[in-house]
Amino acid sequence: MLNLLFYNHLYNWYESNHRVLPWRETEDGYAIWLSEIILQQTRVAQGLDYYMRFIHRWPTVEALAAADEAEVLREWQGLGYYSRARNLHKAAKLIVENGWTPFPTRFEDIRSLPGIGDYTAGAIASFAYNQPYPAMDGNVYRVIARLLDIDEAFDTSAGKKLFHRKIEELLDRENPRLFNSAIMEFGALYCTPVLGDNCTSCPLQEFCLGYAHHTAELLPVRKPRPKVRDRWFTYH
Ligand code: ADE
Repeated sequence: MLNLLFYNHLYNWYESNHRVLPWRETEDGYAIWLSEIILQQTRVAQGLDYYMRFIHRWPTVEALAAADEAEVLREWQGLGYYSRARNLHKAAKLIVENGWTPFPTRFEDIRSLPGIGDYTAGAIASFAYNQPYPAMDGNVYRVIARLLDIDEAFDTSAGKKLFHRKIEELLDRENPRLFNSAIMEFGALYCTPVLGDNCTSCPLQEFCLGYAHHTAELLPVRKPRPKVRDRWFTYH
């Protein structure tokens, strides 16, 4: 199968280049969930301190569920998007009420929790439990668009479906944890929005249609923004 050689190149790159991060050293669903919620709208460098403080103060879902919402919001201060913290706390209480401790393992149960969409549910199921679900964040959309030279907008419902079909075909079902970590990290660190001359020495060059067709840097494509109409004013 062609994908095997692709995985080989991707995983070799990952082994030599990935960042060592605490949520990558654990298979605790709770810890991975916490990291993913913090990282939803936050850069790794900033999120890291918050993650360390949260996991230290509330090391289990039971501990977080027993906290006051006000304390959770106080610990969240500076991260913004406070609905993330409210949903985090609400979800912790639901997990305890449903008897899903230490953390749910079924994708559908994870996905049903407030604040968890397809990306986050896939990230938790694959990183914590090595279950074969994709985890498509913005970095992964970019890598897939370039590899397969997809010029359909990824932020429409038709586009999302297309990208999901493609990632399902590419996903390494033997190693979903490694696959998702590696393709996400490759997008974050190497196959970046501005490529410079990265393509020249890219380890995935031989698999990349965007490289072959000279379209890589133009991808991915977003849906067109609504045009700002010309406005004509008459002054009196
Ligand atoms: N951003 C979102 N999830 C991440 C992860 N697991 N590692 C690094 N950056 C991320």
